[in-house]
Amino acid sequence: MDHFHFKRGRLYAEDVNLSDVAAKVGTPFYVYSHATLARHIQAMESAFNGYPHVVCYALKANSNGAVLRLLAQAGMGADIVSGGELFRARKAGIPGQKIVYAGVGKTESEIRDALRARILMFNVESTEELREIDRVAGLMARRAPIALRVNPDIDAGTHPYITTGMKKYKFGMPVEEALEGYRLARRLRNVDVVGVHKHIGSQLTEMKPFLESAERLVNFVGRIRAEGMDIRYLDMGGGLGIRYDTETPPEPSEWLRNLIPVVRSTGCTLVIEPGRSIVGNAGMLVTRVLYRKRNDLKNFIIVDAGMNDLIRPSLYNAYHRIEPLVRKKRAIIRADIVGPICESGDFFAHDRDLPEVRRGDLLGVRSAGAYGFTMASNYNSRPRVAEVLVRGDRFHVVRRRETYSDLMAKEQVPSFLKPSRKRAAK
Ligand code: LLP
Repeated sequence: MDHFHFKRGRLYAEDVNLSDVAAKVGTPFYVYSHATLARHIQAMESAFNGYPHVVCYALKANSNGAVLRLLAQAGMGADIVSGGELFRARKAGIPGQKIVYAGVGKTESEIRDALRARILMFNVESTEELREIDRVAGLMARRAPIALRVNPDIDAGTHPYITTGMKKYKFGMPVEEALEGYRLARRLRNVDVVGVHKHIGSQLTEMKPFLESAERLVNFVGRIRAEGMDIRYLDMGGGLGIRYDTETPPEPSEWLRNLIPVVRSTGCTLVIEPGRSIVGNAGMLVTRVLYRKRNDLKNFIIVDAGMNDLIRPSLYNAYHRIEPLVRKKRAIIRADIVGPICESGDFFAHDRDLPEVRRGDLLGVRSAGAYGFTMASNYNSRPRVAEVLVRGDRFHVVRRRETYSDLMAKEQVPSFLKPSRKRAAK
């Protein structure tokens, strides 16, 4: 459930008419709903039903500072994959003790920063990385809490680019190798084994892969404990899907009601890393129709947002519901909705049925709160769009639209390319 709804034919976020926001901040922009975020957090938290847990929100889905602060104030921890995300999490007020750190390529300086922040645990993805964490912790006279990321070799049944728990992908370690990894960890002087981690993919819409991989993990915990190692945290990763179109993913309550019985016997604290299920349907992208055109084959609706603003359709052929912000009685047409970028892959929808829109009309691209702005780029020298947070009947710009000077702010022209005084004098 979200708080985007039509009132007298106009699309509102909570009590704010989104056409009014467009008039004030221009288009395109991302808009997030405070009440929806709060509701998703609450749904996730209450689903634990008293079972000990830490919810480590996956920053990669949406790392806007205001959104993070809201999540931090609601008690969320963080799942991070870079020093930059650590920085953002700390700035938002998320305590180190609620931060888990995954990713196959942690650098020495990132490891140092994480040790300094006294994070809950490193989710380690290879034995070389394990040795490096041990070395860096030794230099800093610290102990590094670690979990190894186990690759349970389960097909999550989602898009190949966002499936991670299979052997052919780069993530984690196969079970047997992970066992060796834990034996190594026990011998290393500066790491403490505290947990086990897995994450099998994203936008999962069935319980089965979650349950199968959880069972494998629990089984694995038994084997590590048999060797005398103490496992306190079971990190089941993220991946819970959302409804973009007609999917019917489990609700958080169903997800956890099924997962908790599998892990209960371990007595471990359950860590989860939801991203999309918290922010995905709490946001949308608002864009304006620039032009229409047609050829023998197709209608095209050209909008002012492009693949640089929301790349999911181009990259994963992802479906996003698109609808006019103002409902009018118009014929239904079938059209491609495309952006202004110079690539054929710059589209939001192919052969989509929608009411015939005209120049200047506003469109909402739904379910864009996750992996929308965080994957945006400046391709085609397009300034990144504004982000807006709605709460009740007010809205707040939580990231201003970039300017042309922002585009060049970090560039430097070497002196040999600068006009010399002599030449300038001529
Ligand atoms: N934990 C780990 C270790 C992850 O790699 C991810 C996502 C998550 C948690 C959060 O997963 P979620 O709950 O959001 O499914 N850009 C793609 C999604 C990439 C997901 C990468 N890892 C998209 O737009 O669909």
